[in-house]
Amino acid sequence: MADDYLGRKMEEYRARAAAPAVQKTLASLNRLLLKNRSHRGYDSRFTVRADQLRSMIEVNTRIPSARNQQVLRFRPVLADEAPLVLPHIRLGGALPELHLPLPGSEPRAFILICSTVPEDRYVDIDLGISVQSMLLRGVEMGLNGICIGAFDRARIREAFDLPWEPLLILGVGKGAEQIELVEIGAEENRAYYRRNGVHYVPKIRVEELLIGK
Ligand SMILES: Cc1cc2nc3c(=O)[nH]c(=O)nc-3n(C[C@H](O)[C@H](O)[C@H](O)COP(=O)(O)O)c2cc1C
Repeated sequence: MADDYLGRKMEEYRARAAAPAVQKTLASLNRLLLKNRSHRGYDSRFTVRADQLRSMIEVNTRIPSARNQQVLRFRPVLADEAPLVLPHIRLGGALPELHLPLPGSEPRAFILICSTVPEDRYVDIDLGISVQSMLLRGVEMGLNGICIGAFDRARIREAFDLPWEPLLILGVGKGAEQIELVEIGAEENRAYYRRNGVHYVPKIRVEELLIGK
């Protein structure tokens, strides 16, 4: 703590200069989080490039990992290989009547995620951190994506001759859907739904996420 006048003024100046930077960071993280919705329909005119998938995968060199084991491995898939993935994934399981994705709007880029060790609690936690970080990087670059857990592991492994069974797949592209978040109470229905062409995603309000407050 500075006890001289100039020193105090300097400290005040530094504190003021630091504050907007913090606010800006928070604002842009919130923006990315809001944009980071799960898209099940993509703009077919847009083609994801290899460097974009690589940039998403590269976030894994900067994220936490249990015991810092870093057991996850990533296979980028571009449009030329998309037909090897598409028959084996299921999108929009909560809206079976819509048969998503609509023909022509399928994701055509993917990241297949494997682990070099058998899946366990820590591998799964690493996986969650990894996919959300990659999705946020994608959104930052103007892309969108979706985590895909419903897929045929054995067939995808075989199609790509992978050394390990994939645990999760990210679909990536330029999202072509309007998606809105809807605030709900913890007891309300959490299933996503569509109305007049808009995809609504219920999210529990923060007050009801807090324990004992
Ligand atoms: C681990 C995980 C697996 C998922 N698997 C699928 C899937 O197989 N098919 C699908 O359509 N959506 C899948 N999703 C997307 C969720 O349905 C989606 O996150 C949820 O509806 C909330 O929407 P939001 O991501 O826009 O917030 C998955 C999400 C996560 C986190």
